[in-house]
Amino acid sequence: MLIFRAKNEFAEHLFSLNKTSSLGLVPTMGALHKGHESLVQSAVAENGKLVVSIFVNPTQFDNKEDLKKYPKTLEADLLLLQKVSEDIIVFVPTAEEMYDNKVQSKSYDFEGLDKIMEGAFRDDHFNGVGTIVEALLHLVKPDRAYFGEKDFQQLQIIKKLVEIGKIPVEIVGCPIIREASGLAMSSRNERLSKTMRQKASFIYKTLLTAKEKFGTKSAKYVTNWVEDQFKKHPNLQLEYIEITDVETLTPVQRKNNNLKYRAFIAVFADGIRLIDNIAL
Ligand code: PAJ
Repeated sequence: MLIFRAKNEFAEHLFSLNKTSSLGLVPTMGALHKGHESLVQSAVAENGKLVVSIFVNPTQFDNKEDLKKYPKTLEADLLLLQKVSEDIIVFVPTAEEMYDNKVQSKSYDFEGLDKIMEGAFRDDHFNGVGTIVEALLHLVKPDRAYFGEKDFQQLQIIKKLVEIGKIPVEIVGCPIIREASGLAMSSRNERLSKTMRQKASFIYKTLLTAKEKFGTKSAKYVTNWVEDQFKKHPNLQLEYIEITDVETLTPVQRKNNNLKYRAFIAVFADGIRLIDNIAL
């Protein structure tokens, strides 16, 4: 498995690759788990060559403490990747290398996709995500790039980034991988105590019931019901529950049978922020 830390050597290697087979890209921030692994497996199956980037992107963190505490497990990450394929090219830059010593995000117009949910609660988050993903797409020039539906809003914003920047790449969305309890896999789960990790399965259970209720009830009824469930919960604090159109991510006012909807949730468990979503 080839590992690159410097941008120029990495770019030279990519340039030397045989252009007849397709190139895939899986951008990550490391602390890899089965959720990331599923993206890597799809990408390995669908492309001749694959790049996995591991980079904890400072510009997408609005909270310095969160950035500092972000788990770093490079050795284990490399082992996980190696088990999937010896042929993966891994890119692990430093922030200075990645940003040419100017660690700063660009400002995008994502046509409102970034104004609600994760965007509303995390200042400048999606400008940071857009900046790093755009930089990686320009550097790697993949045929396909893979993103998880776990971060569904991020996935839609990246599709918009590619559309407005006319970047020639196919963005592939991959399903959410869950722990046996139903909790969506996340690097942040490692920071939960064993009992809290079990209790946090309440998030997905509530989403499943919300989905069932949405079959017959209004969006307002369902979001109120979810809010009530969390008010009664002694350990989990709800930050938001939204039901939106999947394309525009605008909250539903009145249900339309021709549109597809998704419920999105953010919850604090012992101060650790967890997000999840479900197709309705
Ligand atoms: P990170 O949180 O490391 O996630 C990398 C990719 O793995 C994302 O596309 C994310 O949606 C996907 N993923 C994480 N958990 C998943 C799960 N349980 N099931 C399916 N997919 C899952 O998202 C980022 O990094 C960053 O914002 C990044 C895109 C790399 C830009 O810095």
